[in-house]
Amino acid sequence: MNTPLQTPICDVLGCDVPIVLAGMGGVARSDLVAAVSSAGGFGLLGMVRESPELITAEIARVRGLCEREFGVSLIPAATPPELFTAELAACIAARVSAVALFWDLSYEAIARLRDASILVLCQVGSTEEAHAAVRAGAQIIIAQGAEAGGHVRGSTALRTLLAEMAPQLRVPLLAAGGIVDGQGVAEVLGLGAQGAVIGTAFLATEESFAHDYHKQRIITASAGAPLRTRAFHVNWPPDAEVRVLPNSVTEGRRGDPFSGHRTVIGAEGARSIWLFSTDSPLRDMTGDFEAMALYAGEGVGGITAIAPAAERLRSICAEAEQHLAMVRNDGAQAVADKDADAVPASQLCYARQADDLYAGFATREEILVFLNELLEAERAGARITARTALDAKDESLAGLMQEIRHDEARWCAMLLTWITQLNGTASPRIGDFYGKCLAIADLYARARFINRGQGWVVRRLKEMLPRIRDDGLHADLTAMLLGHDENIRRSEMMLATTPSEGAGN
Ligand SMILES: Cc1cc2nc3c(=O)[nH]c(=O)nc-3n(C[C@H](O)[C@H](O)[C@H](O)COP(=O)(O)O)c2cc1C
Repeated sequence: MNTPLQTPICDVLGCDVPIVLAGMGGVARSDLVAAVSSAGGFGLLGMVRESPELITAEIARVRGLCEREFGVSLIPAATPPELFTAELAACIAARVSAVALFWDLSYEAIARLRDASILVLCQVGSTEEAHAAVRAGAQIIIAQGAEAGGHVRGSTALRTLLAEMAPQLRVPLLAAGGIVDGQGVAEVLGLGAQGAVIGTAFLATEESFAHDYHKQRIITASAGAPLRTRAFHVNWPPDAEVRVLPNSVTEGRRGDPFSGHRTVIGAEGARSIWLFSTDSPLRDMTGDFEAMALYAGEGVGGITAIAPAAERLRSICAEAEQHLAMVRNDGAQAVADKDADAVPASQLCYARQADDLYAGFATREEILVFLNELLEAERAGARITARTALDAKDESLAGLMQEIRHDEARWCAMLLTWITQLNGTASPRIGDFYGKCLAIADLYARARFINRGQGWVVRRLKEMLPRIRDDGLHADLTAMLLGHDENIRRSEMMLATTPSEGAGN
């Protein structure tokens, strides 16, 4: 997909547009995740408190429905410890590419996921919490503003949170809370987020697992309707607040939520749904939906119809692109106005350019062509290693491919950042290397071919590095060179002890 919306996080996650489906418990099941990821976004399966069997089955189902990347969302604090350990094991065994965690910070979970080369996202509600998550090993932070639907971690509005966090964090930042349209996406990108996490707007889609009662309440709700309450607390840590639409519970007509008295108001198969629990109405439930938690974010007034998820994603992206183009045009006009008033370009500047040419340094244009060439190659590398990790039965081959995939994605993000910094246009292409690799059915032979591709990157970097003047870019490309050297060495070691053909499949 050729889109100006691309940000470095797209390559880290393996998606085309920086729109992430929030891992809504119960609601974000395989159909919705597959629809969002197929359309170019990144889906998160909402698997809080689900059995490892369901998690495994849902992951397999998404993979049967689409070939794109997706992740799983879990909540340690809301899950009995034994079940949580089994959930993690299911994600690791299925080699999902990413896991998003929320509410409490589990150092142990993050370490287990990182050891398995799974990308860790943490959703937080404050800057202090973001720093703690990064220290614990989170690789992507989701800043959740107080506008969010569902459980709300903090009390700070999203825009304030982003303005505070973006300059301080060194890991990619995503924004969640009240975003339902392209203007919202463009705004958070302007405030330093690399993408948006969207819940409520995807709840009201054809593929979401929410019950139609909940979807109808969302599309008919007025803008100011959602409120925060602690009334829905059964099966969650105490004092957790949720943002919901008003109903008989929030209006106090169902008695005192904290009296200790328990009433069954519905069922999901053999499971009872209790009054004041955090369960929201789902497709497979029966019961008194009006009294359940009707989660909704503050952007609810902007959602007036139930649409296919891909259509919703595309319209949000198209609108965001329009907004960004407007901002860019305004910026370009301002620069042109300034230039018209300015004295002719400084002689110093010309002297430096002439100096650079004389010393053999690459021009900005040459550097941009080079960075885009690498970007396409690394993207191909990230895709093919992800695919090979999934296909491999040999654990050591799968693990190695997964680790290389993360490195390749990291380099993509670095290259895209530099291309943007140099005011260039990032190529949306994936190098031909991907197709060539995919045609190699034997996975060990493919891994050898991937190593040759890594060798090509090393050669190109060695050729170009002496011509890079900028210290920062030089340091980043050197790190990329060393990283590739190291991965080539590790692959060679592993491949030296494996059969030449056939056994990796
Ligand atoms: C129905 C619903 C269920 C949610 N469940 C979860 C969950 O299980 N895990 C999680 O990390 N966040 C959950 N959230 C919060 C989202 O991650 C995200 O912060 C929120 O949806 C963003 O706000 P928005 O709904 O206004 O887009 C849920 C949100 C909703 C609306």
